[in-house]
Amino acid sequence: MKKKSIFTLVLASVLLTVLLAACGGGNTSGAQSESSASKAEASASAEASASTSTEASTATTASGDVQVGIVLPTKDEPRWLQDQAQFEKLLGDAGFTSQVLFSQGSSATEKTNVETLVSQGAQVIVICAQDGGAAAAAVEDAKKAGTTVIAYDRLITDTDAVDYYVTFNSFAVGEAQGQYLIDNAPSGSGIPLYLYAGAATDNNAFIFFEGAWSVLQPKIADGTFVIANSSEAEALKDKAELSRDEIGKIIGQVTTDWDFNVAKSKAEAHLTANGADMKGDVVILAPNDGTARSIADVFATDSDVSSYIVTGQDAEKASVQYVIDGKQSMTVFKDTRTLAADSVAMALDVLNGKTPSTDTTYDNGKIEVPAKETPIIVVEKDNVSKELIDSGYYEASEFTGLN
Ligand code: GAL
Repeated sequence: MKKKSIFTLVLASVLLTVLLAACGGGNTSGAQSESSASKAEASASAEASASTSTEASTATTASGDVQVGIVLPTKDEPRWLQDQAQFEKLLGDAGFTSQVLFSQGSSATEKTNVETLVSQGAQVIVICAQDGGAAAAAVEDAKKAGTTVIAYDRLITDTDAVDYYVTFNSFAVGEAQGQYLIDNAPSGSGIPLYLYAGAATDNNAFIFFEGAWSVLQPKIADGTFVIANSSEAEALKDKAELSRDEIGKIIGQVTTDWDFNVAKSKAEAHLTANGADMKGDVVILAPNDGTARSIADVFATDSDVSSYIVTGQDAEKASVQYVIDGKQSMTVFKDTRTLAADSVAMALDVLNGKTPSTDTTYDNGKIEVPAKETPIIVVEKDNVSKELIDSGYYEASEFTGLN
């Protein structure tokens, strides 16, 4: 028990520095966080080739006793390694015993990971679900064992076993992507619009699309944009607000499954199916950075495509380089330092018997989950330095051609 007050002091100062850095107020801690994020990306490819293991563990005590367990969806996208690095730093600095496990795209592994952490005594589990619906069973077991469940970044749906949700503003992500296409499209009308979405198992994919549709739909309805690759979206083009089922139908056609290989083959198929009238100067809604890079590569090699504008999300290092090189138009920066810090602060409150502070709620189909929401930042070539380098997220030396 005494330990907790020491944790409180140490963690409070760590959180303060991290939050200051996230707001651009603390250069020193920003540099530390930067190296964590950078290390995460640097180790991504090494880990992918060196290990096919579905799990990575960190900071366990000799007894294997875990206070806070973290479950992340996959090591195959650099985004989640950035989050891992932040958790390891914050929880380690605060003296928590913790373990990070990866589910590697499998809901079964995810369930086993939760069971493992519960059996190791985790009082709090922070989980970013591989599949928001399938994860319900895993967290229901954890709840029964008395563990507090914090959904991280992706909401777990149709269960009352989620205590809190820590998230970025996902509607704003989609809205920013859609608005970017509108603001940067060539003038005139009849501009081909290619739509791509995330995985149908990820609640965020629906929210991102909903946000994008909220701004794109009027421009589709008035003929500025013409949908080039989705008959379902075309059929709904006069509807300003879509139901979840309607969004599901569109996602069913244009999902990337968050997988750059799927994104690549879909983009190839769409360009093969379309004639020159659906090429020329085009705009592309790509849901995240991995898919944006592969879709951009496909469009760049089609001689009938004279220019393309493509969105992204996550500020992955490879995409930041694409943005600098003019191969990807923008990315949405979601500062994982803030999201991890918010989760750790919540975990600390729970361990201290306090009610974590939240600022909104999210309906997960069963309950209104108390949530803490973090804003997002649009990054394009002009503000890479300000948002990603000056804030300490990356080092300038990690990129070429940066002014
Ligand atoms: C979403 C997440 C995004 C992106 C995507 C692909 O749930 O919010 O930031 O990483 O998954 O994994």
